[in-house]
Amino acid sequence: MSAYAESLLGGGTPGERARLDSIQSSVDDFSTGILQGLGPRADWSCLELGAGAGSIAYWLAERCPAGRVVAVDLDPRHLDADRVEVVEADITDPGFEPGSFDLVHARFVLCHLPSRDALVARAARWLKPGGWLVVTDPFQLAEETSPFPVVAKILAVYKQVYAGHGADLTWSRSVPSLLSGAGLTSVGFAGKLACMGNLGADRWRPLIDQVAPGLLATGAVTRADLEEFHRLLADPGFVDIPQVTISAWGRRPG
Ligand SMILES: C[S@@+](CC[C@H](N)C(=O)[O-])C[C@H]1O[C@@H](n2cnc3c(N)ncnc32)[C@H](O)[C@@H]1O
Repeated sequence: MSAYAESLLGGGTPGERARLDSIQSSVDDFSTGILQGLGPRADWSCLELGAGAGSIAYWLAERCPAGRVVAVDLDPRHLDADRVEVVEADITDPGFEPGSFDLVHARFVLCHLPSRDALVARAARWLKPGGWLVVTDPFQLAEETSPFPVVAKILAVYKQVYAGHGADLTWSRSVPSLLSGAGLTSVGFAGKLACMGNLGADRWRPLIDQVAPGLLATGAVTRADLEEFHRLLADPGFVDIPQVTISAWGRRPG
C-alpha cells in the first residue's frame, strides 16, 4: 500500500484489496462501456494511471493484443505482470514521452492528487494525435441531503478526511472544462449513480470500513455512529445515493 493510502486509510493490504474489488465491481461496466464506445483498436498503446487491481488494464489488454498496455501504480502488488506491462511509479513524476499513447485512462486517482489540474494537461500531452484521455472520479452529493442523519454525518467527515490528504471529491465536475482547456476535442461525459445500502447491492461498506480509523481520529464520528451505519446496512429498507461517478473524455486533434 502506498504511503498516501497508508496514511489515509490506515489499513493493511487485505482491506485495500477489498476496497479495490468493491470499486471494480461497482464501476467496471460503466468504464468499459465508455472505453468500448471509443472504438479501441487491436494495435492501440494504452496507459492506465493508478491501475489498482488492474481490471481495466486487463480489459484493454484483451482488446489491444497487437498493442501494449502499461499499468502504472505507486503500489503495483495487485497487478499481474504476465498480463500487462506493470510500472511502479508516481504518476506525478513526469516520466512518459509526449505523443506515446492512443489511450490514457485514469479512474479514481487524479482527484486524490493536489496537482490534478496540471496532470490532466500533462496526460493530454502523452496522447498521440487522435488519442483519447478518459478521466473518471467521484462527485460527492451534498451530504446533508441524505435521508439518513448518520450517513450525512459520516459522509461529511469522509469528505473532510480526504480533503485533509489533498483530495477533492467534487473535482470531477471540472474535468470536461480541463480537457477542453488542454486542447482536446470531442469532449463528452457521463455519470453513474453510486449505491449505498440495498443489501447485496451495497458498494460502500468496504470504503467506509477502510477509512474508519481516519473518521474516528477526527472525533466527529464515533464508534456508535459506525455501529449504526452497520445496522443500517443490514436493513432491507436502507438505500442511499452518496456520489455520482463522473467520467469525461476528450481527443487530441490530428
Ligand atoms: C482508489 S484506487 C483506484 C484503482 C483503479 N484505478 C480502479 O479504479 O479500479 C487508486 C489507485 O491509485 C494509486 N495511486 C495513488 N496515487 C498515485 C500516484 N501518485 N501515482 C501512481 N499511483 C497512485 C493507488 O496506489 C491505488 O492503487
